[in-house]
Amino acid sequence: MTLKKEIAKRKTFGIISHPDAGKTTLTEKLLLFGGAIQEAGAVKSNKIKKGATSDFMEIERQRGISVATSVLAFEYEGFKINILDTPGHKDFAEDTFRTLTAVDSVIVVIDVAKGVEEQTEKLVEVCRMRNIPIIVFINKLDREGKDAFELLDEIEQKLGLKVTPLSYPIGMGYDFKGIYNIWEKNINLFSGDSRKNIEETIEFEDLNNPELEKLIGSKASETLREELEIVTEVYPDFEREAYLEGSLQPVFFGSALNNFGVRELLDCFIEIAPSPRPKESDTRLVKPEETNFSGFVFKIHANMDPKHRDRLAFVKIVSGTFERNTAYLHVRNGKKMKFSSPNAFFAEKKQIVDISYAGDIVGLHDTGNFKIGDTLTEGEEMRYKGIPSFSPEHFKYINNADPMKSKQLEKGIDQLMDEGVAQLFTLELNGRKVIGTVGALQFEVIQYRLEHEYGAKCYYENLNVHKACWVDPEDPKSEAFADFKRVKAKFLAKDKRGQLVFFADSAFTLQMTQSKYPTIKFHFVSEFERSKKAKTSH
Ligand code: G4P
Repeated sequence: MTLKKEIAKRKTFGIISHPDAGKTTLTEKLLLFGGAIQEAGAVKSNKIKKGATSDFMEIERQRGISVATSVLAFEYEGFKINILDTPGHKDFAEDTFRTLTAVDSVIVVIDVAKGVEEQTEKLVEVCRMRNIPIIVFINKLDREGKDAFELLDEIEQKLGLKVTPLSYPIGMGYDFKGIYNIWEKNINLFSGDSRKNIEETIEFEDLNNPELEKLIGSKASETLREELEIVTEVYPDFEREAYLEGSLQPVFFGSALNNFGVRELLDCFIEIAPSPRPKESDTRLVKPEETNFSGFVFKIHANMDPKHRDRLAFVKIVSGTFERNTAYLHVRNGKKMKFSSPNAFFAEKKQIVDISYAGDIVGLHDTGNFKIGDTLTEGEEMRYKGIPSFSPEHFKYINNADPMKSKQLEKGIDQLMDEGVAQLFTLELNGRKVIGTVGALQFEVIQYRLEHEYGAKCYYENLNVHKACWVDPEDPKSEAFADFKRVKAKFLAKDKRGQLVFFADSAFTLQMTQSKYPTIKFHFVSEFERSKKAKTSH
């Protein structure tokens, strides 16, 4: 098969949701359709169970599971589908944000009763920033929930999307009768039997056909006809181009647990979802079908065995083919590297592969060479953009608790930061180290892992920071910038890349600082277009 055809058959996507909306259940049902697993219950949920014995023990348990579920690949109707796992727990949101840099599209799962929840809002915002094509799946229709129109409105309002339903529910909860598939023009009747994998599909071109009454009764028929008329009037026709550029989002309804509406979702997904897309690097736009290999590291996973400190770096292949035992350039450190046992992922297994194509993910064994965001190429000096760090929400000083082990501590912190567990800042004034995390849980994780994997001990001290902002002066040589650095000296730090960061201790301070120094920009994300003057003088 030609390179072009191999690439066109790949669909790499992520499923995102607020915890409990049904992401794990949906993933499992998709794998069942792909024949990648034989029975329900095979995919372990990697979420943090409520009331878990101890948070970090739970995290340790999950680190095991989440290597296995990082990429779930299967074949369906001639397509190679790669599902990238995204942790639902909000403390791991940054992990999810980074994974979203490696997907070509997403499916958002929403609970019909709960509607749009907090975590969904954050994740969809990141997708919108990157114009990632989104399909919405409204789940749990077997339960009482919000009215379909109310939900569609809520999705538009809270998520800032423009939706168009491609399927429509007939009743819900106790009265749930099935789904009218607007995309394929047929009806699936709900039997509530989750063991039945393939639902009975009844072609139904014309809803005025009196057969409808026989199928679902006269009251439901009347409601369905009325509501579908409203759908046609209110929502735009589906256009694939609009979906692909991120300006229109199709919506499906179903019940993942009952395996209902999932096949429709998958069949439409393979038809409309994008195959690997071109990606911007710092020098040019790279197309997937270029013959030269290139890719970037979007996730690093430490192995479970503390005696072997090797890690698995997950590389998304952006262009060409990745081959085993071939020398590739690690652009950041200028070294050529060969990989004798690259892992590919299939359902829940990983296996060594000789060749992988653009769109695929390979897992490379790493002894500490990689950082998140690193680029690999066949020799071209370019770097992929778009793996920013976000402003952390929690900050603490990290101190050495065992002076004999300071080297181990330093190395441990260094490597955990490369993995993206948290961010490290060094205060300009006194060189003290500050750890910033998205969730409070990570502090426990870091302490535990430093001790168990690196034999180092640390303790934390509180530090009052509201937000860390990346500082971007219009003119780094200006009086104003010099004044800012002098006045705020106590609150300035460098991140790991040496970029200047301002620790604002409250929203008020941040606001005051912004208005006092209008020529300095404060960013909440580490990657931004620098002001022109600053660029030339850097
Ligand atoms: P998540 O990965 O998004 O966090 O959600 P997950 O799939 O684990 O689903 C959360 C809960 O919702 C699970 O119940 C699951 O069985 C249930 N669920 C998923 N899809 C549907 C659906 O279509 N209808 C109904 N009624 N429930 C659904 P749980 O009791 O929390 O867990 P479990 O003990 O069943 O695993």
